[in-house]
Amino acid sequence: MINFKIHYDIDASALAVQSSSAECIVEDLKKNDMAGWIDLPENYDKDEFERIKAAAKKIRAESDYLVCIGIGGSFLGHKAVIDALESQVAGDTKILYAGNSISNISLQKILDKIDGKNFSINVISKSGTTTEPAIAFRVLKAKLIDVYGEEEAYKRIYATTDAESGALHDEALYNHYERFVVPNGIGGRFSVLTAVGLLPLAVAGVDIDELMAGARILSAAISDSNEDAAISGDIKTGIYKYASVRHILRSRNYDVEVLSCFEPCMEFFGKWWQQLFGESEGKENKGIFPATAIYSTDLHSLGQYMQQGRYNIFETILTFKNNPLPKYTDVEIKVPEMAENLDQLGYLEGVSMAEINKKAELATITAHSKHIPVFEIEMTDLSAKSMGELIYFFELACAISATFDQVNPFDQPGVEAYKNEMFKLLGKPEA
Ligand code: PA5
Repeated sequence: MINFKIHYDIDASALAVQSSSAECIVEDLKKNDMAGWIDLPENYDKDEFERIKAAAKKIRAESDYLVCIGIGGSFLGHKAVIDALESQVAGDTKILYAGNSISNISLQKILDKIDGKNFSINVISKSGTTTEPAIAFRVLKAKLIDVYGEEEAYKRIYATTDAESGALHDEALYNHYERFVVPNGIGGRFSVLTAVGLLPLAVAGVDIDELMAGARILSAAISDSNEDAAISGDIKTGIYKYASVRHILRSRNYDVEVLSCFEPCMEFFGKWWQQLFGESEGKENKGIFPATAIYSTDLHSLGQYMQQGRYNIFETILTFKNNPLPKYTDVEIKVPEMAENLDQLGYLEGVSMAEINKKAELATITAHSKHIPVFEIEMTDLSAKSMGELIYFFELACAISATFDQVNPFDQPGVEAYKNEMFKLLGKPEA
């Protein structure tokens, strides 16, 4: 269960008013053509889900590496979950990521890694025409054909793309790649719980049933299909309150939000969150700039600014109720005893790092909340189920927040501008 905590003195009646309009917004969102992700955890394509598991099994049996090619929403979500659950992922097949930049160096590093190894490719692009993944796919496809020959190579390519159109869709049909679908009503940054995220996650050994089950706890609350009304009420309240405090703070000129966490494995989750909110809200001269921090390292850099720099920042800290790495409790590191106390750590002898980290977290909340608004999103633990909950929590909160600001959460007109300028420079023929 996600627990939303407020460490800030906010006007309760303003929050109640804003939260009730959040509830109305959700009812409208349910009718939006691009909100297919709202009931996805309950109404996903069960046949495709089984095909994803079968494909993952095949990939794991025959490949040392799965190279996932994609950018933005076709990349960040699955990497975020794989990184977060790294210590709990059982797969022998390692995931590599390509096509998320145009760097020659990055692609060469991947080519070096797969050289002499067995590998497969999951090319992920809803539009099927994004330049970065398209270039990487060409290069890696050529390598695949070189190693396995055309017939076997095409059996090692898995294409996740639009159901009906686009260059990748057409190529996949032509060459008979196994295809998975990014559903029509689900845009890139809301797609991690579709085949976009599920195939790489299943290959990495993440329990995708548990991931969906976690998201379903929240989607069932939103659709009122959860039998326990009290639990549903708490879940909805948390999401609505988070979206509401963001809006209230925005109206008070707080325009930077820092998402922070005391577990470095959540760093990429921050990047996923950053894209979700940045691309959904940042338009029409509106939005809250999404920044991220990983503690305690960033306490020794950003911490200074956050407490004594410009007061336009608020902070949302991701925390865990239980020790976030339950698998490792048996080997948990404790500060060892030493005969001499030369490092002056004697007072911590026998204390676990988890406990010290928790105390650092509490201390940070106390110190920061003296200067800036601080909120806390407490997850039960670090598991596939909790990650499913967290993803859904932020997706819904983001769509509500953008709607509060009267911008369309589901488009990204600004991203097109750099593409058009680049195409001009590269001499791309007019369509
Ligand atoms: O959220 C979005 O829609 C974008 O970030 C896209 O995911 C990103 O641009 C990649 O697009 P595509 O999957 O069409 O290659």
